[in-house]
Amino acid sequence: MHLPKNLPNSSDSDSSTPPQRTRHRLYGRRLGHALRAGQQELVDIRLPRLMASDNGPVTFSSTVDQWWMEIGFGGGEHLAGQIHNNPDVGFIGAEPFLNGMASLLAKVPDQDDQRLILWDRDARNLLPRIEAGALSRLFLLFPDPWPKKRHHKRRFVSPETLDAIHRVLKPNGEFRVATDIADYADWTMIEIARHGGFTWPVESADDWRVQPADHVQTRYETKAMNAGRKPVYLRFFRK
Ligand SMILES: C[S@@+](CC[C@H](N)C(=O)[O-])C[C@H]1O[C@@H](n2cnc3c(N)ncnc32)[C@H](O)[C@@H]1O
Repeated sequence: MHLPKNLPNSSDSDSSTPPQRTRHRLYGRRLGHALRAGQQELVDIRLPRLMASDNGPVTFSSTVDQWWMEIGFGGGEHLAGQIHNNPDVGFIGAEPFLNGMASLLAKVPDQDDQRLILWDRDARNLLPRIEAGALSRLFLLFPDPWPKKRHHKRRFVSPETLDAIHRVLKPNGEFRVATDIADYADWTMIEIARHGGFTWPVESADDWRVQPADHVQTRYETKAMNAGRKPVYLRFFRK
């Protein structure tokens, strides 16, 4: 197996805001700048209608062909783009950062609400409540890098989350990870190899160096590229 090599290291520093507690420990901010009135309204009125329930199995109300999920969608550029480009697909989006949630809601028209389920908390608390084999794709794009060694245990990719992701994907369902951090790419490849439940069918470096044809570029990604970092796109498939 060829690990992606020679990617630049992160210049990102760790968040200085204190971690929050949910069932697991969630790292990162819930709120950045104060929401504008329109954004606040989206979060107060539209979001509760789209939120997954607090307990019990996630209910898929809409009769779409398949369901995809994005974990940590940030400002929602990719998720909103995929919703727009794939009218027959239902989407679950998890993002605890409320400014990001408001941005996504502003990008997605109301008419798409019946095929959208949102979760404004830690995705690790939602995954176990999704029916096994329910998802055809799961995106984890530019997860927080946690560059310091003592913080590596906070990285989203871990044996536990890989188990949870493996469980919710259909056989041959795709788990797509993008990162601009060389060490996170290596970390992911090692954890995936250790897990053993996914294939990584690549033939040439372009299979991980070039954006997938259906990819929608995110703001974070554009910033990383402008800073000279080269993202990789790792497409794993559930065995
Ligand atoms: C570096 S940002 C990337 C955002 C987006 N994917 C993009 O490419 O622009 C990582 C995002 O993951 C979210 N995140 C971190 N831990 C998470 C978790 N446990 N569950 C859901 N989202 C999480 C953060 O709030 C943040 O918005």
